[in-house]
This record gives sequence, structure tokens and C-alpha cells, in this order.
Amino acid sequence: MAFPIHRPRRLRRSELLRSMVRETRLEPANFIYPLFVCPGEGVKREIGAMPGNYQMSVDHIVRECAEVASLGIPAVILFGLPESKDEEASGAYAEDGVVQRAVRAIKKEVKNLIVVTDVCLCEYTSHGHCGRIAGGDVDNDSTLELLARTALSHARAGADLVAPSDMMDGRVAAIRRALDENGLPGVPILAYAAKYASVFYGPFREAAESAPQFGDRRGYQMDPANQREALKEIALDIEEGADIIMVKPAMPYLDVIWRAKQEFRLPLAAYQVSGEYSMIVAAARNGWLDLERAMFESLTAIKRAGADLILTYFAKTAARAL
Ligand code: PBG
Repeated sequence: MAFPIHRPRRLRRSELLRSMVRETRLEPANFIYPLFVCPGEGVKREIGAMPGNYQMSVDHIVRECAEVASLGIPAVILFGLPESKDEEASGAYAEDGVVQRAVRAIKKEVKNLIVVTDVCLCEYTSHGHCGRIAGGDVDNDSTLELLARTALSHARAGADLVAPSDMMDGRVAAIRRALDENGLPGVPILAYAAKYASVFYGPFREAAESAPQFGDRRGYQMDPANQREALKEIALDIEEGADIIMVKPAMPYLDVIWRAKQEFRLPLAAYQVSGEYSMIVAAARNGWLDLERAMFESLTAIKRAGADLILTYFAKTAARAL
């Protein structure tokens, strides 16, 4: 008879005991902090739906990165808001594009920080989709060339890692080839491998000004109902040359994180996306949840499910509290 021999409460009697048998621990080294770069100088605009996050010009971004590094957070991921948008997303691969300039400045000024760049076209296209439009749809194969150009221009500017988030088929292979053929075989790819068509990206689209002008992203991002398909997507990205794989969003997809961890041997990242962040912050502002505890519980759950790395807007707050 289990009880009264077994009393699991014995190991919960004090914080010291609980801490001794704790299975999952967060550290700043687990985090990647997302940042939004905009044109201009001296610009720092708070994002309405994401309190505590800002669109920042390069000068502010550099200062921010110095602070991030000083907190022991190893990496940032950059998103760009270009000067102007067009059908061909030319701002995405412009040599003096906003992300390219930010990367050069950060690599010059900040030591001990890995700069990851998000590779996607939606912030740069006038229509807000993640690829070239042909016949009213996002054309997969002709988009690959633009994505490869974008990744290459980021790497040439000094990006340490490139992270395609567009969900076109074959983009990891196209990017890998472009980097290799241009003398950059050492730049790794962090693939947004299982990226779902999620409502939780809502606040991000305000932050990055990247909402699609017609339709939605369900023709290229994954159906939230599918788990096995995520394993297929991840396997394909690995075959094409991904070095780190990602599941996104995080908390509504813990089962996918768990299965990816069991099936694959690559470092696994999870993205706690804008809506996950904003929900917690909004509830805390209403006095409905304790911010710090909700933050740590959500991050711990994501790590417990199997994420080695967590992209999170809480990175600075969490690192400070740790
Ligand atoms: C670009 C991209 C998006 C996010 C990361 N990269 C938006 C989207 O796919 O619509 C979302 C990140 C977040 O919500 O925090 N494609």
C-alpha cells in the first residue's frame, strides 16, 4: 500500500528541500531576447500591445544590447522596420537596410553577444506576406531567392546566426547553399521549423508593422491542430541543414516541444511569442496574476517540456530576477 509509506509531501517541506530536488532550472543562458530595429536616430517608441518593448533606432539598439549582454543573456534576435516597403521586399536584403546597419553597429560595439537575425519578408513587403505574390498567392519557389539574399546580406553584415521564419518549403536548403557558395559555411541556421498560424502573433504585428494586407498566413504556416506534421517539418529542415530547430508559439504547443525533444538530437528552441507575453502582462496589470510568478511558471514549463533555448520578451526581466 503506497500510503502511508509514501508521502511525496516530505520533499516539499522547505524551500531548501524543494530546491534540492528541483528538476528544471532556468538560467539567463537559456534566453534569446527579441528586438525591433527602426530607422532614424534617438528613436525609442513603446509598442502599445507589448508594454516594456520598443521600436528602437540603431543607436538605442546598441545600448540595449550592451545591457542584455551585461545580464548574461547570450543572444538577441533582430526584426527590422524598413524605411519603406515594396512588392519585392527590397528593404530585407538592402546592404544598408535597417537590420544590416544594426548588426554592424552591435558587432562593433558590444562584446559577448550573439546576434541572430530573423529572416522573413513580411516586415518588408507592401502586402505584408512572407513571400512574393503571384496570382493572389504567396509563390514558394520564387521567394526562396529573396530569402537567400536576405540571409546572405545579414551574414555579410556580421550576423552570427540566421533564423528563417517564413515557412516556405525549401528555404533552409536555399539559405544554406547561398551562405556556403559565398564563403560563409560557418554561419549556422536556426530554423523556425514548426511554426503555427497562430493568433498569438497579434501584438508582434503591431510591433513589426507586418500584418498581412489581405488574407492570412494559413497557406504557409502550420495548422494548430497538427502534431505529426510538426515532426515532418522539423525533419525536413534538419535534412536541409538546420543547426537549431524551433517550435513556435511555445506554451500552447508544449506537446510539440516535448515530441521534438524526444525525436531529434539538435538544440531545440521555443518562441514564447508576443501574445503569450502580452496576456501575462495584461493580466498582471489588472491585478489578476502575479507577473513574476506567471513569468517564471511559463518559462519553466517551456524548458521542462524540452526547450534548450527560449526566445522571450521576458528575457531581461527574468535574467534580472534570477
Ligand atoms: C515573421 C515573424 C512573426 C513572428 C516572428 N517572425 C510574425 C508572423 O509570422 O506573423 C511572431 C513573433 C511574435 O509574435 O512574438 N514572419
